[in-house]
Amino acid sequence: MKTINIGLLGCGTVGTGVAKLLIENRQLIQSRVGVPLHLKYVADIDLEKARGLDFQDTILTSDANQVINDPQVDIIIEMIGGETIAKDLILKAIESGRPVITANKALLAKHGHVIFETAHRKGVDLAFEASVGGCMPIIKTIRESLVGNHIKSMIGILNGTCNYILSKITDEGISFQTVLKEAQVEGYAEADPSLDVDGLDTAHKLAILSSLAYGTQINFDDIYIEGISQITPMDIEFAGEFGYRVKLLAIGKDRGNAIEARVHPTMIPFDNLLSNVNGTVNAVTVSGDAVQDILLYGRGAGMMPTASAVISDLADIARNLISGATKRLPLLSFQPDSMRQIPVMSIDDIATHYYFRFFALDRPGVLSKISGSLGNHNISIKSVHQKGRKSNGSVPVVMVTHRAKESDVKQALREIETLDVVSANPLLIRIEDEWQQD
Ligand code: NDP
Ligand code: HSE
Repeated sequence: MKTINIGLLGCGTVGTGVAKLLIENRQLIQSRVGVPLHLKYVADIDLEKARGLDFQDTILTSDANQVINDPQVDIIIEMIGGETIAKDLILKAIESGRPVITANKALLAKHGHVIFETAHRKGVDLAFEASVGGCMPIIKTIRESLVGNHIKSMIGILNGTCNYILSKITDEGISFQTVLKEAQVEGYAEADPSLDVDGLDTAHKLAILSSLAYGTQINFDDIYIEGISQITPMDIEFAGEFGYRVKLLAIGKDRGNAIEARVHPTMIPFDNLLSNVNGTVNAVTVSGDAVQDILLYGRGAGMMPTASAVISDLADIARNLISGATKRLPLLSFQPDSMRQIPVMSIDDIATHYYFRFFALDRPGVLSKISGSLGNHNISIKSVHQKGRKSNGSVPVVMVTHRAKESDVKQALREIETLDVVSANPLLIRIEDEWQQD
């Protein structure tokens, strides 16, 4: 029986989880895969750091190239992160004919074209289940289980850190900064946490899912991205009064000759399943023409859930190596010659329901001025709350609209900003509550 040798590059949060499963669940994994998976190398800058693992005969090195240069290594696992060293190491491994596993969504979203093209040309496997949704098998689901479906939409919570922050603010009233620190200590946040809170990490994941679902490598810069830092506890409270929770959503929709790809804080009704997905848990609903709707739910970040997805990729690749299968699955779900360019719809062209929060002077006629501007731009109001929570002489006025077009909304808000009764720039949060009718 052949042993499959693994080279692990990067032994931080996720890398340590991968090593732990390979060492502690060695027998279980072997009994499922059919051959021993031997952790031959671990490369990391800091080899002295306590990881609570007995590496036994694993070679520890600070030189990642040593791992790739050893021809006895059968599979490379990249767990370093970032878009520079990781990219060079992945390309080098692929060029040398070695299959690669990565969780590096930033790299795949922004440099995927060269990485996938190289892997295809060399005929090697490149697996990336852990790059989206932590332990949720969303990539396998789209690439394999839904192969017979046109995918109409994918709507999900794809960033554990943001969901943890929003849940803690909503349910426990804990401050943004305190919760973010907790997420960093627990290893959920990216090395640069602005990737999480500014929505970029969610957009990286949406870019990957859109490629798989729609057979197009979308230009990352075409995705509309808004993070969660503008959301205040007051908006979360108002959302609750209107019957909504605020979540950072990734939204991908098939619009015929274009796709929607957008990431922004979104209000969703209490009775929507996603509104009850809390903490670091991720969830995504995928609608296909045959399946209708499916929901995946599971821990989207953290050491062991993410490591679980990496080991699932490892088992797939090991089985391919054992059986001599190459190019069995197209890396991006579609055969390379069936990939096509599909434009991403401008955010200005979407239509949805909106929540607006204004700070306005507490005097007669204010509401009619604001609603007049909205009316001038075809925006019809569904409900209004004005609360006596004075701040600097102004009171918050919040509104929920019927369906409106984003370009009209922007024009109306620009007009409202200039009104003398409005004292601060308005905040807009989009609402998704007509998923089935879309
Ligand atoms: P960490 O920062 O915890 O781990 C990265 C490790 O790689 C660190 O120990 C780092 O050392 C080491 N490293 C840096 N440069 C090199 C190098 N040249 N050679 C060898 N080792 C190096 O990151 P995570 O484990 O959190 O994330 C890894 C990847 O997984 C990222 O792409 C991330 O986006 C992704 N991911 C993370 C998840 C999570 O929950 N954390 C979930 C899903 C995906 P040092 O610290 O000294 O720089
Ligand atoms: N920082 C990411 C998150 C890790 O919080 O979801 C998982 O991709």
